[in-house]
Amino acid sequence: MKKKVALIAGVGGTCGANLAEMLLADASEGWQVIGLSRTRPELKVDIDHRPVDLLDPSQCETGLGDLSAVTHIFWTALLNGKTREEENQLNARMFVNFMDAALPRIDALEHVHVLEGVKQYGYDLGPYKTPCREDDPAGQPPYFYVDQHAYTLKCQQGADWGWSTTRPGAVCGYSYGGRINLMTVLAAYATIMKELGEPLYFPGDEATFNALTFATDVGLLNRMMVWASTDPRAANQAFNAANGDHFRWCHMWPAIAAMFDMPAGPVRTTRLTEFMADKGPLWQSIIEKHGLEKTELQKIAPWGYADTVFRRYWDNGISTVKANQFGFTEMIDSYQMMQRIFDEFRAQRVIP
Ligand SMILES: NC(=O)c1ccc[n+]([C@@H]2O[C@H](COP(=O)([O-])OP(=O)(O)OC[C@H]3O[C@@H](n4cnc5c(N)ncnc54)[C@H](OP(=O)(O)O)[C@@H]3O)[C@@H](O)[C@H]2O)c1
Repeated sequence: MKKKVALIAGVGGTCGANLAEMLLADASEGWQVIGLSRTRPELKVDIDHRPVDLLDPSQCETGLGDLSAVTHIFWTALLNGKTREEENQLNARMFVNFMDAALPRIDALEHVHVLEGVKQYGYDLGPYKTPCREDDPAGQPPYFYVDQHAYTLKCQQGADWGWSTTRPGAVCGYSYGGRINLMTVLAAYATIMKELGEPLYFPGDEATFNALTFATDVGLLNRMMVWASTDPRAANQAFNAANGDHFRWCHMWPAIAAMFDMPAGPVRTTRLTEFMADKGPLWQSIIEKHGLEKTELQKIAPWGYADTVFRRYWDNGISTVKANQFGFTEMIDSYQMMQRIFDEFRAQRVIP
């Protein structure tokens, strides 16, 4: 089998870390992984990690090292900005720094996959056209994905590599210190409420409780990213990436409460950043009581993200028909996914 070398930018994140672990889980697939991020991630697999701040062009020049054998780039890095405008500038700049420094060092590049998301369609800005399709216009004002894509096309001119992009919704899987993670938010929130002897109130608002939404299992996303990067049918295309079903929190919420063996509460609008601010010691006592892995409450779950995701009162809907027509046919039931991921968190000893 031909050797494939993945260069994952953002290898410590929810999407990048799980991708690295998936690529290396089966040696017969023949992947090697070089990973970039500022801090060394704790992974279940050994990768060639290179610490580099991709915002700093001089670190890109000195820190990337030998990339000559890289065949596939997976861009999964993300930097939060204080405002959307700042976030756009930072992430666009980081991508240009990376591409300018990496591409000249690679001899046999086959593919560049740039991970995007449904913010492409402005799903975070207010009601948008649902279900969103890949050929829908970008949300206004656009997110940095638009600039990153334009730069990918510019770099591709005259080159013989292909590009692809996937656009997930809330990516469901484990990460520690991630900036966006629905599943660790749900797991830590339910664990705290159970310990307090409270029902599982929905912390968002009534409209969000009743609106349609959807999720993207991280394994499905990673498999789609690899498929899009290696199947010639998918070259130079963008694909929405989701489980294939939709749900409403008002229906999912009692099911999640049952997964934690606790009663579901009604809507009780709560700012989780404020509610969780003093719950660190309680989290530590839960860890000691149940012999869990040592984690910090403020790092295991991004409460700032929780305060946005439970306040999107409009419908979220996505069409995954295009990927299906091009050959990626996997679907996942979101209820079963939630149960499986909470079971994985329990097996990892991050929740009781
Ligand atoms: N997670 C989701 O639910 C979700 C949903 C839809 C779309 N997406 C999209 O998927 C992409 C990845 O998201 P994610 O949630 O996986 O991100 P994440 O968990 O926040 O991870 C981001 C990664 O980028 C690295 N990074 C940040 N700044 C860096 C810098 N200056 N230099 C080098 N590395 C840097 C981080 O490591 P260090 O901090 O150690 O540098 C980390 O490894 C983003 O485009 C995001 O919008 C995510």
